Amino acid sequence: MNWNQTVNARGWKVPFVNKSLFQIGKELRPKIDAVIMRTSLIPDAAVQDKAFFPWIAKLEQHWEAIRDEALRIRAEDIPSLGDISFDHGRIAADRRWRAFFLKGYGYRMKANTARAPLTAALIEKVPGLVTANFSVIEAGGHIPRHWGMTKGMLTYHLALKAPRDRENCRMHLEGPDKLHVLHWDEGQSFLFDDMFNHEVWNDTDEDRYILLIQIKRPCRGLGNLIQNTFLFGVRHSRFVRDIRLAIDRAGERPPVN
Ligand SMILES: [Fe+2]
Repeated sequence: MNWNQTVNARGWKVPFVNKSLFQIGKELRPKIDAVIMRTSLIPDAAVQDKAFFPWIAKLEQHWEAIRDEALRIRAEDIPSLGDISFDHGRIAADRRWRAFFLKGYGYRMKANTARAPLTAALIEKVPGLVTANFSVIEAGGHIPRHWGMTKGMLTYHLALKAPRDRENCRMHLEGPDKLHVLHWDEGQSFLFDDMFNHEVWNDTDEDRYILLIQIKRPCRGLGNLIQNTFLFGVRHSRFVRDIRLAIDRAGERPPVN
């Protein structure tokens, strides 16, 4: 019997367990975010300075090898995000947004990482990594305007395959300073705070492939402790359990523990 089953069987009321991401966020997010931002080691910017994160240059150096692994996986083997994550709901309604998960909340997707071993080894060296996936937006795909889950994480995009019609494949990120219009240039990357509203369009006839990584926001003491507690909770939440089961159903076999 695993930890979740034990909790269910005994009727314990444990925060996070069996709750959807929406429920977790609604109850705790504002309090958690306030502490995280008080202890953040980096500014509250929409687009972050890459120089603060030495691992980024390493990933960019190896972008071609990462791309080769991503493109070797056939599009039909990459499930639509909406099929593996119920909580992504409305924003993943467009089946043209696909995700091939390598790692999430401490769980390593064994079958998937076996298909991208070099990328899997590289992401192991990323400090504070929370999730990593190859993210595809097929030609014509659109992700509606939305915002994220917590100030405690930042989102990283390494462009692996960008449509030639660069201008028509873009993300709008509504920062406190200005509207950032971001494009994907192969081998280039950026790091942003998804708590600012953002929206993505691929109005081209080519698919866009990126390596998408979420990391913990660098924080001091208490902020860091709260992040770890929050992530422990998410790891045991219904949100992550549902995704793992769905990836399992999609033919992959992440370890169940
Ligand atoms: Fe997003």
